[in-house]
Amino acid sequence: MTTRILFVCLGNICRSPAAEGIARALMPGLEIDSAGTSDWHVGEPPYGAMQAAARSRGIDLGSLRARQVQPGDFRRFDLIVAMDSDHLSKIEALRPAGSETPARLFTDYAPETGADHVPDPYYTRDFDAALDLIEAAAAGLKRSVLPGT
Ligand code: 4NP
Repeated sequence: MTTRILFVCLGNICRSPAAEGIARALMPGLEIDSAGTSDWHVGEPPYGAMQAAARSRGIDLGSLRARQVQPGDFRRFDLIVAMDSDHLSKIEALRPAGSETPARLFTDYAPETGADHVPDPYYTRDFDAALDLIEAAAAGLKRSVLPGT
């Protein structure tokens, strides 16, 4: 069973903490965390504009703090979910020998959107578009890991 899910983006201050907050709200009881492929923002709370956009949807990201993804995450989680293919490559480069923990693209859970990655709102400045896509993918992820709920 998939009960422990890690979301990964680049900085762990926009997309993956938003995915963490939305997934926690959708799937209470599961163990959900997020991390970045970089160490650029380690220890920082989510980016202010993303916190504000999430708050307007009833999601509070204020207590989250950025950390970097590490090889031990392959043991700690049942599923690792990346926001784009670059993150997926960097995650795969950390995979310990013999680990079979699946690592997937988040957008694979939202084929109806036609998206193949979650665009980085730190650059696009479109935090609501990122949240729309994250909400769609989180709903698909829920249907995948908790079928029938
Ligand atoms: P994230 O967004 O990967 O969704 O957290 C970014 C945040 C910061 C930077 C890049 C992406 N940065 O270059 O500092």
